[in-house]
Amino acid sequence: MHTEPFEARLNDLVHPDHVHQDVYTDPEIFELEMDRIFGRAWVYVGHESQVPNAGDYWTTLIGRDPVLMVRDKSGAVNVLHNRCPHKGAKVVSEGCGNAGPLFRCPYHAWTFKLDGSLLGVPHRSWYEGTGFDPKGESFSMSSVARVASHRGFVFASLSREGPDLKTFLGGAISTLDNFADRAPEGKVQVAGGVQRVWQENNWKLFLENMNDTAHAPATHESSWAAAKQTAQSRFGGKSPFQLHIIEGNGEPNAFWESLDFRCYDYGHSYFDAIFNAPGDRISLEYRQQLDAAYGKERAGEILKLNRHNTVFYPSCSPHVGFQQMRVIRPISVGRTMIEFFTFRLMGTNDEFFQRTISYTNIVNSPSSLVMVDDVDLYRRCQEGMHSDGGKWISHHRNYGRDIKGDHEIIGKGVTELPMRNQFRAWREYMQAPGGGDGRAATAAE
Ligand code: FES
Ligand SMILES: [Fe+2]
Repeated sequence: MHTEPFEARLNDLVHPDHVHQDVYTDPEIFELEMDRIFGRAWVYVGHESQVPNAGDYWTTLIGRDPVLMVRDKSGAVNVLHNRCPHKGAKVVSEGCGNAGPLFRCPYHAWTFKLDGSLLGVPHRSWYEGTGFDPKGESFSMSSVARVASHRGFVFASLSREGPDLKTFLGGAISTLDNFADRAPEGKVQVAGGVQRVWQENNWKLFLENMNDTAHAPATHESSWAAAKQTAQSRFGGKSPFQLHIIEGNGEPNAFWESLDFRCYDYGHSYFDAIFNAPGDRISLEYRQQLDAAYGKERAGEILKLNRHNTVFYPSCSPHVGFQQMRVIRPISVGRTMIEFFTFRLMGTNDEFFQRTISYTNIVNSPSSLVMVDDVDLYRRCQEGMHSDGGKWISHHRNYGRDIKGDHEIIGKGVTELPMRNQFRAWREYMQAPGGGDGRAATAAE
């Protein structure tokens, strides 16, 4: 149990190029993160296409807070606390479904409109002459403090204060635009349900790994080496798509060093694509559909924005080239659930969607040949960080070599700039209430 105020410990825990391992293992710090990071930031809730019809709902968590996204009769998408104002019961259980015209709490049958307002309580006479006010806010399912969406991607914040969503997403917003622009109809739709992976590690390790290029050749050697061998022996070096994806992790150092990283305020970042260069295994039919929808020049620009993992700190990581959204749900200091969603590009055919499914199955599904390596390493980090053999975690790679742009910091190749950038935001958020909002002004190192 630490007795000193947390603010006094911040300087001991987070340094520009190294952090104390307690930030990944201390349950008190985890609880504080749920309040000060997940209680303040814009957190990804879901995509509007998950609730196409009135009454459709999708349940999830913002930090520890159970919430649901629901489409009401007017077509608006609301995000409500999944809490009955009577005794606090979750009004709908986990998962998704259609509530019909109203929500009905299963405990004492209070009912609510799809915007959360109280519709009725059974036996109104039992409440007559009491302080019960059917119009009172405290007798409704309350809305989350702020809700906003961009290109159908819905985010919510438990705090009334802080930047608007656009400001929060900053320069990294182009990832969401490109995600939707890649559809000939300019819209995407969640398809194929959700895959969940339980991880025995702190939530921050997953987000850091999303932008850790240097791990790929080492961590994934068993799968990329086997893929290269198989491509050679069975396909004469002309790998089918599935092997091509796995082989990507075995690119030589010069390739990883040639990539660009871009980091933004609030902890966001992305880097150049490993796969999916214009024309790389993208079908001629898809290219023709894009040309027809946008014109050749614009279609070329859309495909040229060639990006691998983006991190929207602290809650999600989209991949535009393969239409994925990875969503981070911290469960406890050493346990995290990751949800993987696949999207259909509206205006493309099933064959194109098959490419998306293949990528998810190969790289991210619970039975993936690639993800198991990462999950094992996350667990090893989490277990090793309980050792007394040392206290510090190094983020020194390419430290001091990053370049400050106008609204971004640019790093080369194998830099650990994204981790340093995430911890700049972490420090800001973890200030006392009323302190920082995670902006962490981008400064050259
Ligand atoms: S707890 Fe919901 S109606 Fe009683
Ligand atoms: Fe990996």
